[in-house]
Amino acid sequence: MNRGILLQYHDPTFSAALISWQKQHGRHTLPWQNTRDAYKIWLSEIMLQQTQVSAVLGYFARFLERFPTLQDLAAAPVEDVMAQWSGLGYYTRARNLHKCAQRVVAEYGGIFPSDPALLADLPGIGRSTAAAIAAFSSGRRAAIMDGNVKRVFARVFGVDSYPGERKTEEAMWARAEALLPQEGIEPYTQGLMDMGATLCTRSSPDCTRCPMQPRCVAFATQRVKDLPVRKPKKATPEKHATMLLIVDRDEVLLEQRPASGIWGGLLSLPELDGHNAADDDDGAAVPDVDPAAVAAAASPFGAVESQERLKTVTHVFTHYKLHIAPLLITLSKRAALAGEPHYSWLPAAALAEAALPAPIKKLLLELLGDRAQAQTRMF
Ligand code: ADE
Repeated sequence: MNRGILLQYHDPTFSAALISWQKQHGRHTLPWQNTRDAYKIWLSEIMLQQTQVSAVLGYFARFLERFPTLQDLAAAPVEDVMAQWSGLGYYTRARNLHKCAQRVVAEYGGIFPSDPALLADLPGIGRSTAAAIAAFSSGRRAAIMDGNVKRVFARVFGVDSYPGERKTEEAMWARAEALLPQEGIEPYTQGLMDMGATLCTRSSPDCTRCPMQPRCVAFATQRVKDLPVRKPKKATPEKHATMLLIVDRDEVLLEQRPASGIWGGLLSLPELDGHNAADDDDGAAVPDVDPAAVAAAASPFGAVESQERLKTVTHVFTHYKLHIAPLLITLSKRAALAGEPHYSWLPAAALAEAALPAPIKKLLLELLGDRAQAQTRMF
């Protein structure tokens, strides 16, 4: 670790305040505490990744009943391990747990190493989990950095960049290393966990009871609710499609979409490939299409009488925006649909009940609704 950074972030009053608070107000009776048994500590830390203490308690007890020692776990069929894990979620953890048990038996004679770097080389054990296991089972000075600790640090030190960003995360690790106490790594590490889980929670932080309140930058600047900075939203990708509205009297030509992909199996308008070229009246980009290509695409269905670009409509999906540029094509003479099983002509009057995607149905009803009504009136 860079000496400059260590000195810059060094502050023994931070760990002193945290250790003192943990001893008075922290958790001391969890079933994986008050032991140096690395097997139990490791098991609890893996179960507690992405899972709350309340959900882990029952699983932890049952797991130890079924696999009392690391050797029992290593020798068991992986199916038995999965069965014991069933309901806890994130099942890669269980597969890695089994592999890790076998490696510790094979490579370390069944005794977990105490060096965090060696622990972090084992399956399912990352840098933070390795530090927690080493601290709780051997008293090793090593820094943890999970979601809770990131939240505590972001608030106490007023970190105003997103902690998932590499640079911010690296700076947080550096801070975590620099703040480690010379003594009392166990209550210090447990204190960070306890503060994050019980006081400095995401949505209802209890600042009045917090030992860090006098030094908390977020509290002093009234930004507790705004820190940590949320993940910046990516710009929504935009896609463009030219859709052919091939109309003959009161009927419109529809195409059944492939079973997979968006609107799988639904009826929709035939599409034409195109790329963005110009802006339409509202400033939206519209695909550039060659009238000859349009006539060629429409030719199996009849002779094209006219082409007219209609106003672009935008449909917002969860992950992208689709700009639909409709091209109204009127036929002078309809051809029979031969060998085109995915195409069909639909009367405008049947649009409301047809299996169409919502934005396509809306577009068609707006454009052809009057033809449907005219027809209804005729009969
Ligand atoms: N979350 C992760 N490790 C934990 C521990 N040892 N005690 C409580 N919560 C935790």
